[in-house]
Amino acid sequence: MVFPEYRPRRMRQSATFRGLIRETQLNSDQLIYPLFVMPGKNKCEEISSMPGVFRVSVDMLGQECRDCLDLGIKSVILFGLPETKDAMGTGAHDKNGIIQKAIREIKNKTPEMLVITDVCLCEYTDHGHCGCIIDNDVDNDTTLEILAKTALSHAQAGADMVAPSDMMDGRVAEIRAALDEHNFDSIPIMSYAVKYASAFYGPFRDAADCSPQFGDRKTYQMDPANSREAMREATLDVDEGADILMVKPAVAYMDIISRLRDEFDLPIAAYHVSGEYAMIKAAAEKGWIDGDKVMEETLLSLRRAGADMIITYFAKDMAKILKERR
Ligand code: PBG
Repeated sequence: MVFPEYRPRRMRQSATFRGLIRETQLNSDQLIYPLFVMPGKNKCEEISSMPGVFRVSVDMLGQECRDCLDLGIKSVILFGLPETKDAMGTGAHDKNGIIQKAIREIKNKTPEMLVITDVCLCEYTDHGHCGCIIDNDVDNDTTLEILAKTALSHAQAGADMVAPSDMMDGRVAEIRAALDEHNFDSIPIMSYAVKYASAFYGPFRDAADCSPQFGDRKTYQMDPANSREAMREATLDVDEGADILMVKPAVAYMDIISRLRDEFDLPIAAYHVSGEYAMIKAAAEKGWIDGDKVMEETLLSLRRAGADMIITYFAKDMAKILKERR
């Protein structure tokens, strides 16, 4: 009998050995929890296609953020459901808009919470596109101005970081310039650098009521078939001054996370999106998979692929498990 020279099983024989050689760690510092903010008072509505995720009114945010902090989650990203919408998405940069109020409320109640804001117009436009429409098309350069105003209004309300998700060309440079001009040079930009035109956003569009009323997002979000183009998108955002590069969705695009990790030195974020969350929840509800184990394996795998941080609707569930384990 010929013995193999190297037996990988030697280092797997106990939890302690396995712990010793574990290459990737997941901890709650790396998790960012998305919050959907709605008008009204004392409101907390579960999103039907995202069990366990709620739309909450501004007055509930203090408690929500306190709960997150207690679990060890130190960052949230905000999405707003405005009272009214219009063609130009003006609600996005209203000083008293839903997000601006939400930021002030969180900073007032839990100043230590890191507040990231999604900068996009689709929740604020009546047509549901991420920019304004001119001649039946999303007009890039007109939209840039509105995005810059929006990012600036978030910073003025007290946001710690802005995250443009619109996929217009040149938005990072435009936002950087607007922030710098108003002395917000210390506010970083987390760019949704590589955002695909994905069917995995379905539940989010229900949650935030932001489906396009005509056409689709393929003229601005990326084609899922492309990988080299992702490197060009990321290069542009680096040159324009992005501080963090995001890949979205996450699981079907782990090759992109990994490529970005190899080719860029900036921190990388992965957005584990609504559809990815919903699929795990649904299969777990049916008893077909162990939801907690699949959640952890998924998030750990995103870290292994190269993500430094993960935006996930699982943040609280995962943080709870990590806390109990300690
Ligand atoms: C706004 C935005 C979307 C998501 C985050 N920001 C929707 C979209 O682009 O259609 C999706 C997040 C998710 O699915 O969890 N543009």
